[in-house]
Amino acid sequence: MKKSLYSMLALTALTTILITGCNVETEKKETKKAGSTPEELVKRGEYLVTIAGCDDCHSPKVFGPNGPSIDPELRLSGHPEKVALDPVDKNSLKSWVLFNSHNTATVGPWGASFAANLTSDPTGIGTWTEEQFIKALREGKFKGLDNTRQLLPPMPWPSYSKMTDDDLKAIFAYLRTTKPVKNSVPAPIAPPNLK
Ligand code: HEC
Repeated sequence: MKKSLYSMLALTALTTILITGCNVETEKKETKKAGSTPEELVKRGEYLVTIAGCDDCHSPKVFGPNGPSIDPELRLSGHPEKVALDPVDKNSLKSWVLFNSHNTATVGPWGASFAANLTSDPTGIGTWTEEQFIKALREGKFKGLDNTRQLLPPMPWPSYSKMTDDDLKAIFAYLRTTKPVKNSVPAPIAPPNLK
């Protein structure tokens, strides 16, 4: 009888250790989840910006022997204000969409659009609130404000609108840490005004 009581106590203690051990494991995993510290949030934002291809359109390129690559000095600064559009054959725009060599300017049936400056500079998203950023990507609103125009193609905001709040917050947190690049991206050009 005594023996079985001892073994029952031992079993209870073991179970408690196992359960407590499991909890500690889960807690560890929880704190490791990305976004739980400001540094991790920024790191996750950088990861999301990279895999979501924001650089494809928003970063000017340098041209090497293997073709274009991101210009590290101008990363995410949008279409360079000093780079003018070459004249386009407006007839071809009825059925074609054309990108410039940096991928930062696009012409199509909607006219010309220029990828925005996403750096932390005031000419980028430096003065934006997190709410503005979320509205821009969720609702496709210019500057993330009510009563502004819809964002033009090829900004793929309808796809990005499916990101979770946490993802969008992480991206914004990262963009706020980027090197500020002063660059006022030109306004879009309506089709009749294209050269
Ligand atoms: C295929 C090209 C393309 C990709 C990829 C792309 N963008 Fe854009 N983005 C644009 C263009 C072009 C505009 C400007 C549209 C306009 O003026 O209406 C824009 C506009 C924006 C704006 C609005 C800026 C403003 O002033 O209102 C934000 C914010 C933005 N992009 C963030 C992102 C982020 C974050 C990513 C990656 C997750 C991304 N974009 C990927 C092309 C792209």
